[in-house]
Amino acid sequence: MSELNGRRVLVTGAAGRIGLVTVEHLNELGAKVTALSNVEHPDLKADRVLIGDTRSETDVARALQGVEYVVHLAALPHPSAGSPYDVYTTNVVSTFNVLAQAGALGIDRAVIASSINATGVPFNPHEIRPAYFPWDEKAPSDVADWYSLSKQNDENTARMAWRRWGIDVVSFRFPHVNSAEALQRMSDHMRENPGIGLREAWTYLDTRDAAYAVELALTAPLSGAHTFFVAAGTTNAPYATEDLLDRFAPDVPRARRFVDREVPIDLTAIRTVLGFQARHELDLPTLPLEP
Ligand SMILES: NC(=O)c1ccc[n+]([C@@H]2O[C@H](COP(=O)([O-])OP(=O)(O)OC[C@H]3O[C@@H](n4cnc5c(N)ncnc54)[C@H](O)[C@@H]3O)[C@@H](O)[C@H]2O)c1
Repeated sequence: MSELNGRRVLVTGAAGRIGLVTVEHLNELGAKVTALSNVEHPDLKADRVLIGDTRSETDVARALQGVEYVVHLAALPHPSAGSPYDVYTTNVVSTFNVLAQAGALGIDRAVIASSINATGVPFNPHEIRPAYFPWDEKAPSDVADWYSLSKQNDENTARMAWRRWGIDVVSFRFPHVNSAEALQRMSDHMRENPGIGLREAWTYLDTRDAAYAVELALTAPLSGAHTFFVAAGTTNAPYATEDLLDRFAPDVPRARRFVDREVPIDLTAIRTVLGFQARHELDLPTLPLEP
C-alpha cells in the first residue's frame, strides 16, 4: 500500500496536461486529492475540486486546508502563453504564494514544476547550446526570456521556502511532457529534422512518468530543496546519440560516450535520490543519420 493512501494532497493546475494524469495517479494510490484549478474540466475527478487562482492568497489558503503534501503545477507554461508580464508574474507569484503558505503552515513536503527551460537554453534567442554533455543540473544557465526566468525564480523560491520553513521541496525540470501518441508524433518530426532537438537534448517524458516522478518525490526519504532533471532514458529521435552530437554539436564538450539512443543528460541525481527510471519510453529504431 502506498504511503500516500489516505493522505491529503493538494494538486494545483489539476486540469492541465500533467495535472489530470497526476490527480488520476494519486487517486489510484488512495490519496485524498484537493484539486485547485482556474478552469473546470470534465475529466477532473478528485475528493475536493476547487476553482480558484493560485495567485490569490484566499484561494490558496482555502485549498491548503487539511493538506499534508503539495504538488504545484499551475503555470502559464510557455513564453507565448500570455504577455511577458502575465507569464512571469503568474508563475512566480503562484509559486511564492503556494510555497510560502504551505511552509508557514508547517507542511512537510512539496513538489513543483520547474522546467528544462530554467536553463534558459531552449527559448534563448541567441545561438546557444547546452554547455556540455551529459547536460546536468550544475550547467550554467543563460536565461533570455520571461518564462525561463520564471522557472529559474521558482527554483530559488523553493530553496528560500526550505531555508525559511524547513519544507522539503523537489523541483522537477520537466522536458517536453506529453501522451505517448503526441510523443510518437514528435519523434516523426525529429526523424525529418533532428537538429531541432539539440537545445532540449532530445529529451521527452510520458505524462504517466511525470505523475510517477511526483509520487516518488512525495514519498522518497529526503530533506532539503532539490532540483532534478527528469526525462526518459532515451532520446526522441531515431538516431544514435553519438551521431546526433557529432552532427549538431561537434564542438560541445562530451564527458563520455553515449550508448545507442541514450539521452545525453545526466539522470544520476534523480535515479539516486528518488530511484526514478521512466516506465514508458518511445519504441524507435536507430537509423543511420544520412548526410
Ligand atoms: N508539459 C510540458 O511539456 C512541460 C514542460 C516543462 C515544464 N512544464 C511545467 O509543468 C506544469 C504543468 O504543465 P502542463 O503541461 O500540465 O500545462 P497546462 O497548461 O496543461 O496546465 C497548467 C494548468 O494551470 C492552470 N493555471 C494557469 N494559471 C493559473 C492560475 N493563476 N491559477 C490556477 N490555475 C492556473 C491552467 O488553467 C492549466 O489548467 C507547468 O508549471 C509547466 O510550466 C510542463
